[in-house]
Amino acid sequence: MSKKLEEINPWEVSGNLNYEKLIKKFGVSPLKELPSVFNENILFRRKIIFAHRDIQRILETIKAKKPFVMMTGLMPTGKFHIGHMIIAQQMVFYQKLGAKIYIAVADLEAYNARGQSLEESKRIALEEYIPNYIALGFKLSNCEIYFQSERSKDGKKASAYYRLQNLLARHVTFNEFRAVYGEITPGKMLSALLQASDMLHPQLKEFEGKIPVLVPVGIDQDPHLRLARDISKRIKGFTQLSSTYNIFASGLGGGKMSASDSSSYIALTDSEKEVEKKIKKYAFSGGRATLKEHQEKGGNPDIDVSFQYLKFFFEPNDEKLKEIEEKYRKGEMLTGKLKEYTIKKINNFLKSHQKRLSKAKKQVKKYLK
Ligand code: TRP
Repeated sequence: MSKKLEEINPWEVSGNLNYEKLIKKFGVSPLKELPSVFNENILFRRKIIFAHRDIQRILETIKAKKPFVMMTGLMPTGKFHIGHMIIAQQMVFYQKLGAKIYIAVADLEAYNARGQSLEESKRIALEEYIPNYIALGFKLSNCEIYFQSERSKDGKKASAYYRLQNLLARHVTFNEFRAVYGEITPGKMLSALLQASDMLHPQLKEFEGKIPVLVPVGIDQDPHLRLARDISKRIKGFTQLSSTYNIFASGLGGGKMSASDSSSYIALTDSEKEVEKKIKKYAFSGGRATLKEHQEKGGNPDIDVSFQYLKFFFEPNDEKLKEIEEKYRKGEMLTGKLKEYTIKKINNFLKSHQKRLSKAKKQVKKYLK
């Protein structure tokens, strides 16, 4: 695994991340006890979602059966891979709890930060991301899906969203931008303000009116939340944003899962053969160099990518997971067996997912008409 210094900002994540340190560095709070519905979800139960800001407000809202919004955005670059499932599964979870879901397709951000055309972003969002959300259980009701470059056909709504971005600008200084982001270009600055508007605009009267908003993100996005929270405190009329933070699913090689490197991820459209090849060839193993050593000293599931994928996504049964972990740690289970099991689990999931996906694509086409 790489020993590079960690680099983490909304546009770049690299190196080995120390999440304990990040909690302190960013000033977020560790996620402690949650109501039992949360623990039915493995992301919460297994502490993959590990930190938060102001989650209490959302928990109270859920308890009181009052409305709330879950807001998220997607940067539509590359293929939809298993790492993207972490946010998608939360969309499904909160939608079932009654939240209205707002999804911003960050096409302007993809243009400013990655140089990707608006057309390409639109294509990837509609062909890859949205259908995969639906196949994972997301419903096209009680939701708003929009493009940053095209908020709404309703002029009043569109104006309100872009107006907010501009009004926010007056309440932040260049030094604050520097402090939060370091080096920053005008394009990225506009993206940060637009993302603040993404997160805050559901509360405008043109949308839901005053309402609690929850933004679940990867920890790299926290600077955007800090900025939006700081600015909104300076303007009257906003309920403070709540957010939760997930750790990243590791890439196949143990580093970052990157949409631009197909040997770093499992895509939800990968074939059985591809999954088999990727896990066998690329999945970083916590096993020992020789059979003898493995049997004597045992493997390390904490750094084993196959085991991590079972834990994050593919083995919902806690007892089974624990059994695998123990056997692997003791050296009773070999890497080959662990990989074989993981391949089987992933392929079982993908088989039914891909069936749902082709139906979902048709649904998106209808929705757009
Ligand atoms: N910046 C996010 C990303 O890189 C995308 C995004 C845009 C977003 N607007 C948002 C995320 C609002 C959460 C909330 O993926």
